[in-house]
Amino acid sequence: MKKLVLFASGAGSNADAIIRYFKENAFAEVAAVFTNKPEAGVVQKARGYGIPVVIATKSDLENGNVLAHVNQFKPDLIVLAGFLLKFPTDIINAYPNKVINIHPALLPKYGGKGMYGINVHRAILENRDIETGISIHYVNEHYDEGGIIFQERVGVSDCDSPEQIAARVQKLEHEHFPLIIAQLLK
Ligand code: GRF
Repeated sequence: MKKLVLFASGAGSNADAIIRYFKENAFAEVAAVFTNKPEAGVVQKARGYGIPVVIATKSDLENGNVLAHVNQFKPDLIVLAGFLLKFPTDIINAYPNKVINIHPALLPKYGGKGMYGINVHRAILENRDIETGISIHYVNEHYDEGGIIFQERVGVSDCDSPEQIAARVQKLEHEHFPLIIAQLLK
């Protein structure tokens, strides 16, 4: 049985999609969800599936306390699904090419500092881009600059709010992220 460890800080809709996918395709399972936000929606979602939730605070992450905890789950892949802190390099170094992230835009556009969540979609709207999309990439110490694994585009020229763009992008995320993870685990 392949093991996944997820890191998330938010609502957890991607984590939910991943957990559900691997209940249907049970050659892998989500062994644990790590979060820096005990009050985040992802905590209730994971607990609802009986999946262990580990609270990893900013200081835990910065002082190297999290790697040993991750190792206990023996992950084949570490998946960042809306994790908003800088991912510790000790974990990246311990799991080379085994840490991936999803970004709600077509990197390298709209990546880097401050480019997360609704900010990304607001910038797309302000720049009147006609399309956006998702990027699934390896995580290295420069965060959004790791090698691209997968990208998918969606037209947004008819959108007139960042929320509308976000909804289209999230639909792509939920559709593709579990499939890309499954491919990487095979
Ligand atoms: C997603 O839009 C993802 O692209 C970004 O963070 C968001 C997480 O959303 N990295 P959710 O918590 O999975 O609903």
